[in-house]
Amino acid sequence: MNTLKKGLILGVAAISTFCGNPTKNNPNAEIDRKVDSLLSIMTLDEKIGQLSLYTSDMDQTGAFLRPQYIEDIKAGKVGSIFNAYGTAYTRKLQEMAVNETRLGIPLLFGYDVIHGHRTIFPVPLAEASSWDLKAIKTAAEVAAREASAEGLHWTFAPMADIARDPRWGRMVEGSGEDPYLGSLIAAERVKGFQGTDIHDLHTIAACVKHFAAYGAAQAGRDYHTVDMSDRLLREVYLPAYKAALDAGALTVMTSFNDLNGIPATANKYLFDEILRKEWGFEGFVVTDYTAIMELLYHGVAKDAHEASALALNAGVDMSMQDGFYMQTLADLVKQGKVTEKQIDIAAGRILRVKFQLGLFEDPYRYSDPENEKAEIMKSENIAAAHDMAKKSIVLLKNEKQLLPLSKKTKTIAVIGPLADSKRDMIGSWSAAGDWAKSISLLDGLKKKLPNAKFLYAKGAEITGNDTKGFADAVNIAKKADVVIMAVGEGFWMSGEAASRSEIDLPGVQEDLVKAVSKTGTPMVAVLMNGRPLTINWLDENVPAILETWFLGTTAGDAIADVLVGDYNPSGKLPVTFPKNVGQIPIYHSMKNTGRPFDANNKYTSKYLDVSNEPLYVFGYGLSYTKFEYGAIQLSSKEMKTSDKLTVKITLTNAGKMDGEEVVQLYIKDKVASASRAVRELKDFQKVFLKAGESRELTFTIDNEDLSFYRADMSWGSEPGEFVVFIGGNSRDTKSAEFVLN
Ligand code: GLC
Repeated sequence: MNTLKKGLILGVAAISTFCGNPTKNNPNAEIDRKVDSLLSIMTLDEKIGQLSLYTSDMDQTGAFLRPQYIEDIKAGKVGSIFNAYGTAYTRKLQEMAVNETRLGIPLLFGYDVIHGHRTIFPVPLAEASSWDLKAIKTAAEVAAREASAEGLHWTFAPMADIARDPRWGRMVEGSGEDPYLGSLIAAERVKGFQGTDIHDLHTIAACVKHFAAYGAAQAGRDYHTVDMSDRLLREVYLPAYKAALDAGALTVMTSFNDLNGIPATANKYLFDEILRKEWGFEGFVVTDYTAIMELLYHGVAKDAHEASALALNAGVDMSMQDGFYMQTLADLVKQGKVTEKQIDIAAGRILRVKFQLGLFEDPYRYSDPENEKAEIMKSENIAAAHDMAKKSIVLLKNEKQLLPLSKKTKTIAVIGPLADSKRDMIGSWSAAGDWAKSISLLDGLKKKLPNAKFLYAKGAEITGNDTKGFADAVNIAKKADVVIMAVGEGFWMSGEAASRSEIDLPGVQEDLVKAVSKTGTPMVAVLMNGRPLTINWLDENVPAILETWFLGTTAGDAIADVLVGDYNPSGKLPVTFPKNVGQIPIYHSMKNTGRPFDANNKYTSKYLDVSNEPLYVFGYGLSYTKFEYGAIQLSSKEMKTSDKLTVKITLTNAGKMDGEEVVQLYIKDKVASASRAVRELKDFQKVFLKAGESRELTFTIDNEDLSFYRADMSWGSEPGEFVVFIGGNSRDTKSAEFVLN
């Protein structure tokens, strides 16, 4: 850095340091002064440069690349780079920004660290199946340690989009259908990424996405229109984003979709009214990939200038990849369509995060090769991923206790297109994960049962109609004591731009299962998928079924642990499994309607060709042991809005195996000024009980649990009768009633 520049930056830092200390109501006061001082010596172009984010050519997560990003860095035309990691590469790019621009403002490095950076954890939907908030936070902490050790400052996570349409491929990236569970998980992920001090070297800034309601894309088709009432938006789709921001998330990403006619990236209601005014968000907003340019396709802007003005005036601070801000904002200031003040505010929000990360003290502090060597895939990280993976597995069926397998099982046939796959194990959005280092199911089983004889056949591909491999699969099944059948989706069949109009087992996999099933050898189906699948035939005909999603680097080890009973499965579904696509959307907290289904009355809400019941309900998951629930005890049959109602229930592990149960509490408001869901998740506890152990669990219900958006859209409770349900899923529950006075 040359002397002049050093003088400028040091001068800025010096001026601001003497501008006073953090005041109690503004802990960032000192940083704010540094930001203001820096802005005061920046040119308009330099400020606009801070509002641009471009991808390096190290990874590609969208349609368009911008090869001139290196020249842009040197010209001070970009303030942040994504898809660049590794201490050497980030240092190289940082040196360009610091040494070759007038003020040497450091770059911010972002990346999609969605479920791990090098050590890949289960995909987010799998993590959500664990209902283990501590493990979920640990997963984010490990991801942050590895990402920050490779020069990264910022992750485009957590994805907090509630999703109730499994045709949508991005359901895999979120926490499922429920706003309460989704809120808790989003908050834990932010705490894991950012820690208690974002200046800490092992933390990274979070980015809540995709704001807002991206998961409600019509027909489950990615990027499609979203249209909903303000009540639905606020009751179901906004809470998880808000929870992430309440947990301190420093940034927010716009969603691709339009919401009620206005594309999110130009939506003042979302970004100015709700995010800034109602929620008081002070961080910065970044668009999704080329989303300002896409305003032209949405048809709300005729050119780059109009699109940029719409976005900046809506409250969008940083443009990802399309370069529209760099191309147009100086003109727009001259034309009076935006003001330099607006650009100062946007640039200031971004510079503040750079100061908070300590980048002005030392732009290279995250690019330390020693730290990189110490952190990447260290044994504690692998162990954390393994722990998370085991807890993410959901036991869907276990007829006649086929599982757990005896460790003395002699011959095991491992069959299916996913049985020996390494790449699919780390799923979509697998960041810098090296799939060659992941453990396949076959690998895991061989390690677990070294004395067993293994027979392996792929049987079929994931897609396509080639059945030539069936004969081999059938032959080995006939020679085996048990068949482990690994079927499901390819990692590329979920994630972005991966919607499916049918959600059955792709290709000829179901036919493979049927052919092998005919041998009569007992079969365990191991599902690997990024969304619910309509596996009706398997549910009816295969004695044991495990939902394993995509479990990451340690997948094979975790599945083997569960198959032989070294870990008693404890997962519960965070999404409803429909019987067929025709039932979608289908979720646990639906309304009763004016004509609830009645088998004895034609004129009630139903289908002619399928029941209203899903294949598996939200919150469903079995155990190798048996949990029994006592009666619900209420501290009172009545409560006032100022009261707290204590709810007790005794849980007993009545089986022969220690295990964990997710005890779920739901509430129904029987009569209200707006129609209410038949039940809504309001609390849960994941408890470990030894075989034979009983424990009394206590929950508390308060007025906030009973509050909703009333007929006039005001938030609050209404007097009346309520039902509390408690159980191991959203259907099989005990209940009790109480009155709010
Ligand atoms: C992608 C995704 C978004 C991601 C971004 C950067 O298009 O929609 O989730 O963070 O681009 O890779």
